Amino acid sequence: MSEESKNFPQGFLWGSATSSHQVEGNCDNDWSRWEKANAERLAEEAEGRFSHLPNWPEIKDEAQNPQNYISGRACDHYHRFEEDFDIAKSLGHNAHRFSIEWSRIEPEEGKFNEVEIEHYRQVILALRTRGIEPFVTLNHWTLPLWFSEKGGWQNSQSVINFAKFVDFVAKNLKNEVNFWITLNEPGIYIAQSYLLGLWPPQKKSLLVSLKILKNLLSAHKSAFNIIKSFDPKAQVGLVDDIMYYEGGISFLADWFANREFLNLVGRRMDFIGLNFYFHQKFSGFKFIKSDSENKSDLGWEIHPEGIYHVLKKLKRYHRPIYITENGLADAKDAKRAEFIREHLKWTQKAIAEGVDVQGYFHWSLLDNFEWDKGFWPRFGLVEIDYKTLERKIRPSALEYAKICKNNVIASPAPQLRGGAKQSR
Ligand code: GCO
Repeated sequence: MSEESKNFPQGFLWGSATSSHQVEGNCDNDWSRWEKANAERLAEEAEGRFSHLPNWPEIKDEAQNPQNYISGRACDHYHRFEEDFDIAKSLGHNAHRFSIEWSRIEPEEGKFNEVEIEHYRQVILALRTRGIEPFVTLNHWTLPLWFSEKGGWQNSQSVINFAKFVDFVAKNLKNEVNFWITLNEPGIYIAQSYLLGLWPPQKKSLLVSLKILKNLLSAHKSAFNIIKSFDPKAQVGLVDDIMYYEGGISFLADWFANREFLNLVGRRMDFIGLNFYFHQKFSGFKFIKSDSENKSDLGWEIHPEGIYHVLKKLKRYHRPIYITENGLADAKDAKRAEFIREHLKWTQKAIAEGVDVQGYFHWSLLDNFEWDKGFWPRFGLVEIDYKTLERKIRPSALEYAKICKNNVIASPAPQLRGGAKQSR
């Protein structure tokens, strides 16, 4: 799109997102256990999974090292959140999405840890004193060990267990938080963990997947009710990963993979959190492989226009939309500035056509632990040196900062042009 952008709506929220397990360090949950048991295997499988990527020569040492697959101390954000939020503030962010680690709050069933809830109170306070609005995710996939040992979300008690955790958190933090997110991407979680058998607990069953869907839906609804009972004015939403499907049976894929959860949730959501990463074309029932050259380090196609189409489709729910994640793995930071700018231009077009988008959170503030791919994919506005834990602001973060500070898409800095050209 070539026309000059206008300002974003007044009060638009600008920021970035993280999740506890990916940045905090020293988590003891179902994932950390799984990592230790699977690191060797993942390192061995790396060549098969990633050697087709053009950057394979650069990533192969890391990707073939079992240590890459163990989250360990991650970014040590648990101890360095003040420093990290100083950076976010300096970059003009006025909102930040993070998650509360259930396994810290309730390390044993029914035993709630006052020290840890105080920790998160301090995290929220640190954001507030910097003028940054917190968006709190209650569950970003990771589970306490006792909960996963009881069968995780498959157990019929799971909804009640989650409700007790939410009750404790909401009771303690009700005065400090305006925006709550119950669950992160239930659809991706179910697909990866229960259909494809890739993530813990590595099941492959349609029947079990349907049970998990049912329990996650109930978990969302009860969390919604609990938070509202403490604070009727709280805004409670759900985060969904929605892909842009095009052609063929895209209407079916859209229904089942994209909007099933949203449709079933009904009225119990005050806002929609959109995570946007993917574009998929169909011819009839078949996937068409993308021939785009514009890809991230993970080989994911970059297709900014997709966010526009997805936003337009979300309009039917008549809820404010926050883009709660959008980002790319880009270790050289060659494409990130343009990526952000283009996605925001298409977002702005959707806004101009009446879609109520109220904020954008880039994924991620920091480089972090990318689940079963480990540390090599670099998603951060801020680079982490995992040896020294030094933080280094990437040039694209400064470009994004101009947008955040001015509430408008600035023209690209001349030295950043070239490397990241889009096809249009
Ligand atoms: C997700 C998760 C994040 C990921 C990010 C990049 O959307 O998959 O919320 O935890 O790290 O999306 O893949």
